[in-house]
Amino acid sequence: MARALVTGGAGFVGRHLCAKLLAEGLDVVCVDPLVADTGARHPDLWLLPSRGAFSFVEQDCRQFFDGSDACFDYVFHLAAIVGGRINLESHALCVAEDLAIDSGMWRWAARTRPGRIVYFSSSAAYPICLQSAGNRRRLTEDMIDFSKPLGTPDLSYGWSKLTGEYLMKLYVERYGGEAVAYRPFSGYGEDQDLSYPFPAICKRLLDDKGAEEVFVWGSGHQCRDFIHIEDCVGFIWKTFRTLPTGSSLNLSTGIATSFIAFAQLVGEEIGWHPKISGMTDKPEGAFFRCGDTALQSSLGLAHTIPLREGVRRMLDCLQLSSSRETKAEMAALYL
Ligand SMILES: NC(=O)c1ccc[n+]([C@@H]2O[C@H](COP(=O)([O-])OP(=O)(O)OC[C@H]3O[C@@H](n4cnc5c(N)ncnc54)[C@H](O)[C@@H]3O)[C@@H](O)[C@H]2O)c1
Repeated sequence: MARALVTGGAGFVGRHLCAKLLAEGLDVVCVDPLVADTGARHPDLWLLPSRGAFSFVEQDCRQFFDGSDACFDYVFHLAAIVGGRINLESHALCVAEDLAIDSGMWRWAARTRPGRIVYFSSSAAYPICLQSAGNRRRLTEDMIDFSKPLGTPDLSYGWSKLTGEYLMKLYVERYGGEAVAYRPFSGYGEDQDLSYPFPAICKRLLDDKGAEEVFVWGSGHQCRDFIHIEDCVGFIWKTFRTLPTGSSLNLSTGIATSFIAFAQLVGEEIGWHPKISGMTDKPEGAFFRCGDTALQSSLGLAHTIPLREGVRRMLDCLQLSSSRETKAEMAALYL
Protein backbone atom coordinates (compact mmCIF):
# COMPACT_ATOMS: atom_id res chain seq x y z
CA MET A 1 0.00 0.00 0.00
CA ALA A 2 1.50 3.38 -0.99
CA ARG A 3 2.01 5.82 1.86
CA ALA A 4 1.50 9.56 1.53
CA LEU A 5 2.45 12.46 3.80
CA VAL A 6 0.13 15.45 3.51
CA THR A 7 1.42 18.60 5.23
CA GLY A 8 -1.26 21.21 5.88
CA GLY A 9 -3.71 18.39 5.25
CA ALA A 10 -6.36 19.76 7.63
CA GLY A 11 -6.85 22.84 5.48
CA PHE A 12 -9.36 23.36 2.70
CA VAL A 13 -7.41 21.72 -0.15
CA GLY A 14 -5.81 19.18 2.20
CA ARG A 15 -9.13 17.76 3.47
CA HIS A 16 -10.30 17.07 -0.05
CA LEU A 17 -6.94 15.66 -1.09
CA CYS A 18 -6.73 13.36 1.97
CA ALA A 19 -10.25 12.08 1.21
CA LYS A 20 -9.31 11.35 -2.40
CA LEU A 21 -6.06 9.58 -1.52
CA LEU A 22 -7.81 7.44 1.12
CA ALA A 23 -10.66 6.61 -1.25
CA GLU A 24 -8.07 5.46 -3.80
CA GLY A 25 -6.50 3.17 -1.19
CA LEU A 26 -3.39 5.11 -0.10
CA ASP A 27 -2.39 5.31 3.54
CA VAL A 28 -2.25 8.94 4.64
CA VAL A 29 -0.31 10.70 7.39
CA CYS A 30 -1.66 14.23 7.80
CA VAL A 31 0.60 16.71 9.64
CA ASP A 32 -1.02 19.99 10.59
CA PRO A 33 -0.89 22.11 13.78
CA LEU A 34 -4.35 23.58 12.98
CA VAL A 35 -3.10 27.15 12.77
CA ALA A 36 -5.69 29.71 13.90
CA ASP A 37 -7.24 31.94 11.23
CA THR A 38 -6.40 29.51 8.43
CA GLY A 39 -8.80 27.11 6.73
CA ALA A 40 -7.79 24.32 9.18
CA ARG A 41 -10.46 22.02 10.63
CA HIS A 42 -9.80 19.15 13.00
CA PRO A 43 -10.13 15.75 11.25
CA ASP A 44 -12.79 14.77 13.83
CA LEU A 45 -15.07 17.04 11.79
CA TRP A 46 -14.48 15.22 8.53
CA LEU A 47 -16.16 12.11 7.24
CA LEU A 48 -13.33 10.14 5.66
CA PRO A 49 -13.58 7.20 3.28
CA SER A 50 -11.95 4.17 4.90
CA ARG A 51 -10.05 2.21 2.23
CA GLY A 52 -6.64 3.51 3.26
CA ALA A 53 -5.40 4.07 6.82
CA PHE A 54 -5.45 7.64 8.15
CA SER A 55 -3.36 9.12 10.93
CA PHE A 56 -3.28 12.69 12.13
CA VAL A 57 -0.23 14.36 13.68
CA GLU A 58 -1.12 17.72 15.23
CA GLN A 59 2.28 19.33 14.79
CA ASP A 60 4.09 22.01 12.83
CA CYS A 61 5.56 20.22 9.82
CA ARG A 62 8.97 21.78 10.55
CA GLN A 63 9.09 19.92 13.89
CA PHE A 64 7.88 16.80 12.12
CA PHE A 65 10.68 17.16 9.54
CA ASP A 66 13.29 17.66 12.29
CA GLY A 67 12.21 14.49 14.06
CA SER A 68 11.34 12.16 11.21
CA ASP A 69 13.32 10.08 8.76
CA ALA A 70 10.21 8.10 7.85
CA CYS A 71 9.87 6.93 4.26
CA PHE A 72 6.96 8.11 2.15
CA ASP A 73 6.07 7.19 -1.41
CA TYR A 74 4.48 10.60 -1.92
CA VAL A 75 4.62 13.92 -0.12
CA PHE A 76 1.89 16.48 -0.78
CA HIS A 77 3.21 19.73 0.66
CA LEU A 78 0.32 22.12 1.26
CA ALA A 79 1.35 23.61 4.61
CA ALA A 80 1.21 27.38 4.29
CA ILE A 81 -0.07 30.56 5.85
CA VAL A 82 -2.46 31.82 3.20
CA GLY A 83 -5.90 33.38 3.85
CA GLY A 84 -7.88 35.85 1.79
CA ARG A 85 -6.67 39.09 0.23
CA ILE A 86 -6.76 41.10 3.48
CA ASN A 87 -4.44 38.58 5.13
CA LEU A 88 -2.03 38.56 2.17
CA GLU A 89 -1.86 42.38 2.16
CA SER A 90 -2.01 43.18 5.91
CA HIS A 91 0.07 40.30 7.24
CA ALA A 92 2.63 40.06 4.46
CA LEU A 93 5.45 39.14 6.86
CA CYS A 94 3.38 36.42 8.60
CA VAL A 95 2.73 34.98 5.16
CA ALA A 96 6.48 35.11 4.52
CA GLU A 97 6.72 32.29 7.08
CA ASP A 98 5.93 30.12 4.08
CA LEU A 99 9.55 30.61 2.99
CA ALA A 100 10.70 28.89 6.18
CA ILE A 101 8.05 26.15 5.93
CA ASP A 102 9.03 25.38 2.34
CA SER A 103 12.78 25.46 2.84
CA GLY A 104 12.32 23.06 5.80
CA MET A 105 10.42 20.68 3.56
CA TRP A 106 12.94 20.75 0.70
CA ARG A 107 15.89 20.22 3.08
CA TRP A 108 14.08 17.29 4.75
CA ALA A 109 13.33 15.85 1.29
CA ALA A 110 16.97 16.09 0.28
CA ARG A 111 17.85 14.12 3.44
CA THR A 112 15.15 11.46 3.41
CA ARG A 113 14.47 11.14 -0.34
CA PRO A 114 10.76 10.37 -0.53
CA GLY A 115 9.39 8.85 -3.72
CA ARG A 116 7.84 11.99 -5.22
CA ILE A 117 7.07 15.45 -3.85
CA VAL A 118 3.95 17.30 -4.93
CA TYR A 119 4.48 20.98 -4.16
CA PHE A 120 1.52 23.34 -3.95
CA SER A 121 2.57 26.56 -5.60
CA SER A 122 0.01 29.17 -6.69
CA SER A 123 -1.13 31.39 -9.53
CA ALA A 124 0.27 34.17 -7.29
CA ALA A 125 3.74 33.12 -8.45
CA TYR A 126 3.06 34.54 -11.94
CA PRO A 127 4.33 38.04 -12.82
CA ILE A 128 1.79 40.66 -11.80
CA CYS A 129 2.78 42.76 -14.85
CA LEU A 130 0.86 40.25 -16.99
CA GLN A 131 -2.31 40.63 -14.90
CA SER A 132 -3.09 44.35 -15.14
CA ALA A 133 -6.02 46.11 -16.82
CA GLY A 134 -3.75 47.31 -19.63
CA ASN A 135 -1.66 44.16 -20.03
CA ARG A 136 -3.56 40.99 -19.38
CA ARG A 137 -3.30 37.50 -20.75
CA ARG A 138 -4.07 33.96 -19.80
CA LEU A 139 -1.11 32.72 -17.81
CA THR A 140 0.82 29.82 -19.35
CA GLU A 141 3.09 27.57 -17.34
CA ASP A 142 6.18 28.68 -19.31
CA MET A 143 5.75 32.30 -18.09
CA ILE A 144 7.78 31.18 -15.09
CA ASP A 145 11.13 30.18 -16.52
CA PHE A 146 14.13 30.34 -14.18
CA SER A 147 16.56 30.47 -17.11
CA LYS A 148 15.16 33.89 -18.14
CA PRO A 149 14.51 37.20 -16.35
CA LEU A 150 11.60 36.77 -13.93
CA GLY A 151 8.61 39.06 -13.38
CA THR A 152 7.60 40.22 -9.89
CA PRO A 153 5.07 37.84 -8.28
CA ASP A 154 2.15 38.84 -6.03
CA LEU A 155 3.31 40.01 -2.58
CA SER A 156 5.27 37.85 -0.10
CA TYR A 157 2.87 34.99 -0.82
CA GLY A 158 3.79 34.99 -4.50
CA TRP A 159 7.49 35.34 -3.69
CA SER A 160 7.36 32.33 -1.37
CA LYS A 161 5.63 30.20 -4.01
CA LEU A 162 8.06 31.32 -6.72
CA THR A 163 10.96 30.54 -4.39
CA GLY A 164 9.39 27.19 -3.50
CA GLU A 165 9.35 26.30 -7.18
CA TYR A 166 12.97 27.40 -7.53
CA LEU A 167 13.93 25.14 -4.60
CA MET A 168 12.07 22.35 -6.36
CA LYS A 169 14.24 22.95 -9.42
CA LEU A 170 17.38 22.69 -7.28
CA TYR A 171 16.03 19.54 -5.58
CA VAL A 172 15.42 17.90 -8.96
CA GLU A 173 18.55 19.09 -10.77
CA ARG A 174 21.18 19.03 -8.00
CA TYR A 175 19.85 16.26 -5.78
CA GLY A 176 18.20 14.01 -8.36
CA GLY A 177 14.86 14.19 -6.53
CA GLU A 178 11.42 13.60 -8.04
CA ALA A 179 9.02 16.52 -7.69
CA VAL A 180 6.23 18.36 -9.47
CA ALA A 181 4.29 21.54 -8.68
CA TYR A 182 0.70 22.66 -9.16
CA ARG A 183 -0.42 26.26 -9.53
CA PRO A 184 -4.04 26.44 -8.40
CA PHE A 185 -6.00 29.52 -9.47
CA SER A 186 -9.08 30.42 -7.40
CA GLY A 187 -10.02 27.03 -5.99
CA TYR A 188 -13.35 27.03 -4.19
CA GLY A 189 -15.70 24.60 -2.51
CA GLU A 190 -18.56 24.37 -0.08
CA ASP A 191 -16.36 24.09 3.02
CA GLN A 192 -14.03 26.98 2.14
CA ASP A 193 -13.29 29.63 4.73
CA LEU A 194 -15.42 32.78 4.41
CA SER A 195 -12.32 34.96 3.99
CA TYR A 196 -12.24 33.85 0.32
CA PRO A 197 -14.31 35.70 -2.29
CA PHE A 198 -16.40 32.80 -3.59
CA PRO A 199 -18.09 31.80 -0.33
CA ALA A 200 -18.04 35.38 0.98
CA ILE A 201 -19.95 36.80 -2.01
CA CYS A 202 -22.46 33.91 -1.93
CA LYS A 203 -23.08 34.50 1.79
CA ARG A 204 -23.35 38.27 1.37
CA LEU A 205 -26.03 37.92 -1.29
CA LEU A 206 -27.95 35.45 0.85
CA ASP A 207 -27.73 37.68 3.93
CA ASP A 208 -28.59 40.89 2.05
CA LYS A 209 -31.48 39.46 0.06
CA GLY A 210 -33.98 42.22 -0.67
CA ALA A 211 -31.45 45.10 -0.54
CA GLU A 212 -31.31 47.36 -3.60
CA GLU A 213 -27.54 47.32 -3.83
CA VAL A 214 -24.89 44.77 -2.89
CA PHE A 215 -21.17 45.44 -2.77
CA VAL A 216 -18.12 43.43 -3.81
CA TRP A 217 -14.49 44.28 -3.05
CA GLY A 218 -12.30 46.46 -5.26
CA SER A 219 -13.68 47.90 -8.48
CA GLY A 220 -15.60 44.66 -8.96
CA HIS A 221 -14.20 44.44 -12.48
CA GLN A 222 -11.23 42.35 -11.38
CA CYS A 223 -11.40 38.80 -12.73
CA ARG A 224 -10.60 35.41 -11.27
CA ASP A 225 -10.51 31.89 -12.65
CA PHE A 226 -12.73 29.92 -10.27
CA ILE A 227 -12.20 26.16 -10.22
CA HIS A 228 -14.09 23.73 -7.99
CA ILE A 229 -11.99 21.78 -5.51
CA GLU A 230 -13.30 18.46 -6.89
CA ASP A 231 -11.82 19.34 -10.28
CA CYS A 232 -8.53 20.44 -8.67
CA VAL A 233 -8.19 17.18 -6.78
CA GLY A 234 -9.29 15.15 -9.80
CA PHE A 235 -6.65 16.83 -11.98
CA ILE A 236 -3.97 16.16 -9.36
CA TRP A 237 -4.94 12.52 -8.94
CA LYS A 238 -4.79 11.93 -12.71
CA THR A 239 -1.38 13.53 -13.21
CA PHE A 240 0.82 13.65 -10.11
CA ARG A 241 2.64 10.38 -10.87
CA THR A 242 3.17 11.03 -14.59
CA LEU A 243 4.02 14.75 -14.92
CA PRO A 244 7.69 15.09 -15.84
CA THR A 245 9.81 15.67 -12.76
CA GLY A 246 10.57 19.36 -12.24
CA SER A 247 7.47 20.54 -14.12
CA SER A 248 4.55 22.71 -13.01
CA LEU A 249 0.91 22.62 -14.05
CA ASN A 250 -1.92 25.13 -13.74
CA LEU A 251 -5.15 24.10 -12.04
CA SER A 252 -7.55 26.38 -13.88
CA THR A 253 -10.59 26.51 -16.16
CA GLY A 254 -9.39 29.26 -18.52
CA ILE A 255 -12.60 31.19 -17.78
CA ALA A 256 -12.22 34.69 -16.29
CA THR A 257 -15.19 35.98 -14.27
CA SER A 258 -15.36 39.46 -12.79
CA PHE A 259 -16.55 39.82 -9.20
CA ILE A 260 -19.56 41.81 -10.42
CA ALA A 261 -20.50 39.14 -12.97
CA PHE A 262 -20.03 36.50 -10.30
CA ALA A 263 -22.30 38.33 -7.84
CA GLN A 264 -24.92 38.73 -10.58
CA LEU A 265 -24.80 34.99 -11.19
CA VAL A 266 -25.24 34.32 -7.46
CA GLY A 267 -28.19 36.75 -7.44
CA GLU A 268 -29.82 34.91 -10.36
CA GLU A 269 -29.50 31.62 -8.51
CA ILE A 270 -31.09 33.14 -5.40
CA GLY A 271 -33.80 34.71 -7.56
CA TRP A 272 -33.20 38.46 -7.31
CA HIS A 273 -31.34 41.10 -9.28
CA PRO A 274 -29.77 43.78 -7.07
CA LYS A 275 -27.42 46.46 -8.34
CA ILE A 276 -23.86 45.22 -7.77
CA SER A 277 -21.19 47.85 -7.04
CA GLY A 278 -17.51 47.83 -6.11
CA MET A 279 -16.04 48.95 -2.76
CA THR A 280 -12.92 50.89 -3.65
CA ASP A 281 -11.76 51.05 -0.01
CA LYS A 282 -11.30 47.27 -0.09
CA PRO A 283 -8.39 45.59 -1.91
CA GLU A 284 -8.93 44.03 -5.31
CA GLY A 285 -5.58 42.31 -5.90
CA ALA A 286 -4.46 41.54 -9.44
CA PHE A 287 -6.89 42.84 -12.07
CA PHE A 288 -7.01 39.81 -14.38
CA ARG A 289 -5.85 36.41 -13.17
CA CYS A 290 -6.78 33.54 -15.42
CA GLY A 291 -4.90 30.33 -16.21
CA ASP A 292 -4.29 29.04 -19.70
CA THR A 293 -5.51 25.45 -20.08
CA ALA A 294 -3.62 24.22 -23.17
CA LEU A 295 -1.17 22.10 -21.18
CA GLN A 296 -3.96 20.68 -19.02
CA SER A 297 -6.00 19.85 -22.16
CA SER A 298 -3.01 18.07 -23.68
CA LEU A 299 -3.08 15.81 -20.60
CA GLY A 300 -6.78 15.10 -21.04
CA LEU A 301 -7.90 17.40 -18.22
CA ALA A 302 -11.09 19.47 -18.48
CA HIS A 303 -13.11 20.92 -15.63
CA THR A 304 -16.42 19.18 -14.97
CA ILE A 305 -18.21 21.55 -12.57
CA PRO A 306 -19.49 24.72 -14.28
CA LEU A 307 -19.48 27.91 -12.23
CA ARG A 308 -23.28 28.00 -11.96
CA GLU A 309 -23.31 24.46 -10.56
CA GLY A 310 -20.60 25.44 -8.07
CA VAL A 311 -22.70 28.44 -6.98
CA ARG A 312 -25.77 26.22 -6.49
CA ARG A 313 -23.78 23.82 -4.33
CA MET A 314 -22.37 26.66 -2.25
CA LEU A 315 -25.77 28.26 -1.71
CA ASP A 316 -27.33 24.91 -0.75
CA CYS A 317 -24.53 24.32 1.74
CA LEU A 318 -24.73 27.80 3.27
CA GLN A 319 -28.49 27.47 3.71
CA LEU A 320 -28.27 23.97 5.17
CA SER A 321 -25.33 24.68 7.47
CA SER A 322 -27.31 27.38 9.26
CA SER A 323 -29.89 24.75 10.23
CA ARG A 324 -27.74 21.65 10.93
CA GLU A 325 -25.34 21.22 13.79
CA THR A 326 -24.42 17.63 14.45
CA LYS A 327 -20.96 16.45 13.49
CA ALA A 328 -22.10 13.78 11.04
CA GLU A 329 -24.49 16.12 9.29
CA MET A 330 -21.87 18.84 9.00
CA ALA A 331 -19.21 16.42 7.80
CA ALA A 332 -21.54 15.00 5.19
CA LEU A 333 -22.05 18.51 3.88
CA TYR A 334 -18.36 19.15 3.59
CA LEU A 335 -16.85 16.04 2.04
N1 LIG B 1 -7.29 27.24 -2.19
C1 LIG B 1 -6.76 27.64 -3.34
O1 LIG B 1 -7.47 27.94 -4.29
C2 LIG B 1 -5.26 27.73 -3.51
C3 LIG B 1 -4.80 28.52 -4.55
C4 LIG B 1 -3.44 28.59 -4.74
C5 LIG B 1 -2.57 27.88 -3.93
N2 LIG B 1 -3.05 27.14 -2.91
C6 LIG B 1 -2.09 26.45 -2.05
O2 LIG B 1 -2.62 25.23 -1.59
C7 LIG B 1 -2.20 24.99 -0.25
C8 LIG B 1 -3.40 24.79 0.65
O3 LIG B 1 -4.21 25.96 0.62
P1 LIG B 1 -5.62 26.00 1.34
O4 LIG B 1 -6.51 26.84 0.52
O5 LIG B 1 -6.02 24.64 1.72
O6 LIG B 1 -5.25 26.84 2.66
P2 LIG B 1 -5.76 26.57 4.17
O7 LIG B 1 -5.47 27.80 4.95
O8 LIG B 1 -7.16 26.08 4.15
O9 LIG B 1 -4.83 25.37 4.62
C9 LIG B 1 -3.49 25.57 4.98
C10 LIG B 1 -3.19 24.56 6.08
O10 LIG B 1 -1.79 24.62 6.35
C11 LIG B 1 -1.66 24.45 7.76
N3 LIG B 1 -0.34 24.94 8.18
C12 LIG B 1 0.08 26.23 8.31
N4 LIG B 1 1.35 26.24 8.76
C13 LIG B 1 1.73 24.95 8.90
C14 LIG B 1 2.92 24.32 9.33
N5 LIG B 1 3.99 25.04 9.71
N6 LIG B 1 2.97 22.96 9.34
C15 LIG B 1 1.90 22.23 8.93
N7 LIG B 1 0.74 22.78 8.53
C16 LIG B 1 0.66 24.12 8.53
C17 LIG B 1 -2.82 25.21 8.36
O11 LIG B 1 -3.09 24.81 9.70
C18 LIG B 1 -3.93 24.85 7.39
O12 LIG B 1 -4.62 23.69 7.79
C19 LIG B 1 -1.34 26.19 0.15
O13 LIG B 1 0.01 25.88 -0.04
C20 LIG B 1 -1.78 27.26 -0.81
O14 LIG B 1 -0.78 28.20 -1.02
C21 LIG B 1 -4.39 27.06 -2.68
